[in-house]
Amino acid sequence: MKKSVLLAIVGLLSFLVIESCKKDPGVINEEGNPTHPYVINTTAAFPPLKLPADNPLTEEGVKLGRMLFYDPIMSKDSTISCASCHRLDLAFVDGAKVSKGIRGQVLSRNSMPLFNLMWNNKFFWDGRATTLREQVLIPIQAHNEMDMNLFALVNKLKSTAMYQVQFEEAFPGMAITDDLISKALEQFLVSVVSFNSPIDQLKFRTDTLNVISAASYRGMQLFLQPVENGGADCFHCHSNIPFFGNNSVSGSMANNGLDLTFTDNGFFAVTGKETDKGKFKIPSLRNVALTAPYMHDGRFDNLEEVLDFYSSGIELNSPNLDINILSHGKQLNLSEQQKSDIIEFLNALTDMSFVNNPAYKSPF
Ligand code: HEC
Ligand code: HEC
Repeated sequence: MKKSVLLAIVGLLSFLVIESCKKDPGVINEEGNPTHPYVINTTAAFPPLKLPADNPLTEEGVKLGRMLFYDPIMSKDSTISCASCHRLDLAFVDGAKVSKGIRGQVLSRNSMPLFNLMWNNKFFWDGRATTLREQVLIPIQAHNEMDMNLFALVNKLKSTAMYQVQFEEAFPGMAITDDLISKALEQFLVSVVSFNSPIDQLKFRTDTLNVISAASYRGMQLFLQPVENGGADCFHCHSNIPFFGNNSVSGSMANNGLDLTFTDNGFFAVTGKETDKGKFKIPSLRNVALTAPYMHDGRFDNLEEVLDFYSSGIELNSPNLDINILSHGKQLNLSEQQKSDIIEFLNALTDMSFVNNPAYKSPF
């Protein structure tokens, strides 16, 4: 009896092997669609996905991208990975004022959180990359980040047995190139989504105060209401719901009045326009409770300092100050209660299922 079961299993196995040899092992079928598509776990509150048309997400591609993201092999001396500056438990920031790259070199900017990136059209604080594919190759090559020559990286991966197998599974029949490295990383980054905070539950529930606290609810009203209605008007800049950031093509960069004179010119470096000096990417405020310190240079240690700034510290004479602040042109002078209510609302944007999602953890 036992023997026949075993034989049947052996028979089945050899059948499967023969079957898979006969088939095209490719992950893209004749219609150009992935045969092992990666399934993004969506909820009813989810906006339509914006997937890269020429780089369909496959299970194998996302897996490879995740390995590359967590592997220090990607840096010149094999000490730094993307994850050195992007930690999942902190919504993929590093918790430092400014990040440290290879050989302890100090960068000038604060690390950025990574989630819901597929809906963005500009990347980095100054918006200098317009696609994820283009973005990922920049830290790899930057001398103060991973300092890796792409030609050397391709050779390093080609001579690693594990990556020979993984690239073949993700991109069958294709030689390892920097293009495929960037596409695998793009697939992993696109798969990283976060839409499960207490605020997201409000969509499905009418009993608001059972979902978020009364303070969060008051904070949400302040966040959403214009200044003339007694609100704090955060919404006009952090305006794309459900992102609580700004993904519009023309409105995603703004000067929120941090400085009178700029030490970092931000978006100006990209466009060369005087009117873009001091503009930075309007970040998503999802998971913001996890991503301290704040702003492009990490100048504020906590959300209390951020709220003090928006309440009474805005430089109203800052060049290129955003119209949404100029239009009322005054300090908000929020009460202590109002500031803490807004912080309670921001806390309710934290998605613990995201930072605990095993699909985003290190595969090693
Ligand atoms: C040494 C630290 C460091 C390393 C290593 C690093 N990053 Fe970053 N990352 C940063 C910092 C700092 C920024 C913001 C830089 C800026 O605006 O100039 C950033 C920005 C980004 C952004 C832009 C996010 C947005 O919303 O615009 C993405 C995407 C990203 N990194 C992905 C990666 C990937 C993928 C890797 C590995 C290939 C990587 N990073 C390696 C520190 C790092
Ligand atoms: C004029 C547009 C504008 C308004 C209004 C605005 N923000 Fe911002 N916010 C920005 C920009 C731009 C940044 C990034 C600035 C930088 O780093 O130089 C930012 C950054 C932040 C950050 C830091 C996020 C991080 O990841 O470092 C927080 C928190 C924040 N804003 C909360 C608020 C709150 C709360 C309000 C309402 C009281 C508000 N914002 C109003 C444009 C705005």
